[in-house]
This record gives sequence, structure tokens and C-alpha cells, in this order.
Amino acid sequence: MAGVVRNLFAPWRFVRSARSVQLSAIPTLNFHTTPLSMMGASVEQFNQAKDRLGTLKKDPGNEVKLKIYALFKQSTQGPCDTPKPSMLDFVNKAKWDAWKSLGSIAQEEARKQYCDLIDSLVAAEGGSTQLAAQPAASGAYETLLVTTEDDITTIKLNRPSKKNAITTEMYTEIINALDQAAKDDSVLTVITGAGDFYCSGNDLTNFTKIPEGGIQQMARDGGELLRKYVKAYIDFPKPLVAVVNGPAVGVSVTAMGLFDLVYATERATFHTPFSQLGQSPEGCSSYTFPKIMGTAKASEMLLFNRKLTAVQACQQGLVSEVFPDSSFQSEVWTRLRAYAKLPRNSLALSKQLIRAAERERLHAVNDAEVERLVERWLSDECMNAVMSFFQAKSKL
Ligand code: COA
Repeated sequence: MAGVVRNLFAPWRFVRSARSVQLSAIPTLNFHTTPLSMMGASVEQFNQAKDRLGTLKKDPGNEVKLKIYALFKQSTQGPCDTPKPSMLDFVNKAKWDAWKSLGSIAQEEARKQYCDLIDSLVAAEGGSTQLAAQPAASGAYETLLVTTEDDITTIKLNRPSKKNAITTEMYTEIINALDQAAKDDSVLTVITGAGDFYCSGNDLTNFTKIPEGGIQQMARDGGELLRKYVKAYIDFPKPLVAVVNGPAVGVSVTAMGLFDLVYATERATFHTPFSQLGQSPEGCSSYTFPKIMGTAKASEMLLFNRKLTAVQACQQGLVSEVFPDSSFQSEVWTRLRAYAKLPRNSLALSKQLIRAAERERLHAVNDAEVERLVERWLSDECMNAVMSFFQAKSKL
């Protein structure tokens, strides 16, 4: 059987050339005509991924090629409903099995998985992906310092005088930086903070910038931005590490449930004062926190504003490891540089496997949390809390 499968997509141009996929493996699809079922936001990315497929130099092996084939068919034609080939028709039977194994996953999801798979293969070869042609990350951001070194892309929140509070501009920049890091050649991506804080959460001045459409418009726009922000973490395809260099508040804490590793200095604290602010949890924490630490402990944080020390957060599973403040940076970066030498493809694909089991659920949780928050932002409870914050400041 192995020998038969080895010849499955022979010649190797199945992967070397997107056009040969059309000619040999997928005869029913015309690449130059976008099927109606593919109209949507990710079609362009899908088409770019097809082009990148043609840049691969190495044969990724039959299993991966079958997966590519299956995802392509699911993306373009939906679930497999063609008759099962005969047992003796080994090649078509293997392809049919691969396609059928995707079950009823949506075409949009299949396109996403197709793009992720191609990107991880291109990255594994050290090749450049679609955003590589964009300007270098460093210097391209106002609120972040983004660097790539030793196969690690570091996104440093860079508003230390405001404790790295996240403005609307900064949300957008983090989304863009994550998008770029997902597609660059690095093995790991790190988020950390400049100065003595990791991050003080949502910048409360975001609530004071009222657009022409009024406060409702502000809440709707804020909700959409938050949804995209959290989505960027849910869909991030490589290992994502939080290097928590100091106290963390609000959304910077809740999003930690979506990281793969969280390293904290002993000086860090973890605080989600949502009810104090008349708000409600985000960052998928209404799902990830009870799962990570149990409902009773999660409720102390998410409902009753309990601030955890780094050691407590580690005991409850939110933090992977705590380091002495004096050696925090050197110990953590030594560790991360060693991790970044592990095989990038294996790391990325393993992370994607872990995430795939929950991805849809996380998106649903994100949607529900954003919907609730948009309501909360318009409530008297929230308005009064934000006003109190600024009144307290003005009395100082
Ligand atoms: N939004 C807007 N401004 C913020 C901020 C935030 N989330 N966090 C800090 N800042 C600003 C402060 O207003 C202050 O600005 P100023 O120098 O113009 O007065 C500056 O950052 C430094 O903060 P300061 O309060 O002086 O430092 P601190 O060490 O005494 O306290 C915090 C730090 C984070 C505990 C405190 O600023 C705070 O509670 N911020 C609000 C956190 C929050 O509620 N986030 C939203 C969670 S949902």
C-alpha cells in the first residue's frame, strides 16, 4: 500500500506547481474562475496560499499531500459526496478517504486550514510567505516594538508611561503584528511589555473618544475591534508565549488563556476587575478560565475581581512557571532560544492540532463575550465606573 501511495501524486509537481494540481489531481476545478461558494473574505488568502504551494522545494510526503488535496476539495466543493471508489482503485480511494475524513467542516474553515498548512510548510523550508514582501516590522508600529531574532518574533507593548494600556490604535497594531508573525520565518512568537508593567488592559480613554455616530457607534466599533483582536489569538498558528514582565490587568490577563506558554516574573500580578468597572469577561476567559482553574477559582477572578500573585496564578494553571525577578529576563530568554531550535514545522503543526479541537468553540465564546460587552459598555454601571477612574485621577 505504501508503495502505491508513494506514487499517488506522482509526479511531485502536484505540490511543486499549483497548475499541475488543477491538471492532474483536481480536474473539475478551473483555477481562473472563483466558484460562487468561495465568495468571501478568505478567498484571496486561499488563492495566495495556492500560489505559495508552488514555491515549495521539498516533497512534504504523501500524508501531507493527501491532507492538502482533501482541504482543497473541501474548500472548493464542500463535503465529499462522490461515490466511494473501488478497493482496487488505490489512488482514488486514498484521496476519497482523505476528503471524506474532513466530514462536514465548513468551506471557510477548510480554506483557513489549507492556508495554515501551506504557510507552515513554507515556513518550515525557511521560505517567505505572503507578508514577507511587506515593510520590515521594526519601525512600522507606533505603539509596539517588533523584532525578530534567533527565530523568535517579539511583540513588545511600548507605552510604558501608560503601563502599556491598549488604545484602539494599539489593538490594531497588535492584530497586524500577530498576522505578520504568523507568516514570518520565526519559530516562536512572544508578547511582552516595556517598562515595569506587562499591560494595564484596555485603555480607559478609549471610552472617551466618541465618534460621530455617538456612543452606540463607539460600542459597536469597539466590539468589532475586540472580536478581531481575540480572533487573532485564537487563530494564531505557531507557539505563542507571554513573557509577563510585571503586573497585568484586564484583557491582557484574559487573553493568557489562549497562549501556549506563560512565563512570569514573581513581581507580576493578575487582575481582571470587570465587575468593578461594570463590565464582563472577554478574551474567551469565560470559557478558558473555568477550564484551566475550575469554576470556583475562575469566579473569584472574573466575578469578584480577586487579584492573583504570580505564584497563585501558577498554582491555578494560568501561568506555566514563575521566575525570580532578578534573573527573569536571562532565564526566560535562554529557555526560549533553546525552544526556538526545535523543528518549526513539528511545533506549529502540534500547536494547531491542540487548538483545532476547540477553535470553533473559542470563536463562539468570543462572539458571545463581545456581544455582552457591547451592551455593558452602554450601561450606566460601566459609564459611572469609567468616570470614577478619571475623577480619581483629576483629584490627584
Ligand atoms: N487606561 C488609561 N490610562 C491608564 C490605564 C488604563 N487602563 N492604566 C494606566 N493608565 C495611565 C494612568 O492614568 C497614568 O496616566 P497619567 O500619568 O497621565 O496620570 C499612567 O498610566 C500611569 O498609571 P498610574 O495609575 O499612575 O500608575 P500606578 O502604578 O499607580 O497604577 C494601575 C497602575 C494599572 C494599577 C492603574 O493605573 C489602574 O488601575 N489603571 C486602570 C486599569 C484598568 O482598570 N484597566 C481596565 C481593565 S478592564
